[in-house]
Amino acid sequence: MHTTQDLVLRGYGGFALHQRTPRRFQMRLDHIVVGDIGIAFLVNGPTLSYAVADKYQNRGFATQAVRLVVDWSFEELQLEKIVARVRISNIASQKVLGRAGFNVEQVERHIYLLERRNPKAAAA
Ligand SMILES: CC(C)(COP(=O)(O)OP(=O)(O)OC[C@H]1O[C@@H](n2cnc3c(N)ncnc32)[C@H](O)[C@@H]1OP(=O)(O)O)[C@@H](O)C(=O)NCCC(=O)NCCS
Repeated sequence: MHTTQDLVLRGYGGFALHQRTPRRFQMRLDHIVVGDIGIAFLVNGPTLSYAVADKYQNRGFATQAVRLVVDWSFEELQLEKIVARVRISNIASQKVLGRAGFNVEQVERHIYLLERRNPKAAAA
């Protein structure tokens, strides 16, 4: 049994996610905090959000973080799906989500609503 202070999801190259609250993690490169990621239960379902500090962008950290949190939330939280809302202009975030297996499910005025289903969840 772990607490929210000591769960660490390890990536590669010194990158890891340190759990800070039940569903939010700090992204760290060795001991430096480089970003934040988590899941909130919102109207469209469990919703992923994340950010990487400007000087650490384009080094694959969001890509690693999203994959780690998706795998963790399917295994540990047993979520059936995760959604993300992304501005249509935010190409970097769409790349990150596409690489983690998210697909566009809805288009709003300036926003894509993307979804990734848990392959182990029973078909709805
Ligand atoms: C979106 C964000 C989290 C991406 O983080 P990151 O660690 O830089 O992401 P990665 O390095 O894993 O991947 C980004 C990819 O987008 C590419 N990219 C970045 N800016 C781009 C642009 N303007 N046009 C096209 N591609 C772009 C990068 O080259 C990289 O692709 P590559 O690995 O094929 O080279 C970061 O830009 C950020 O924090 N933005 C502000 C907050 C935000 O938008 N959060 C997401 C809300 S849904």
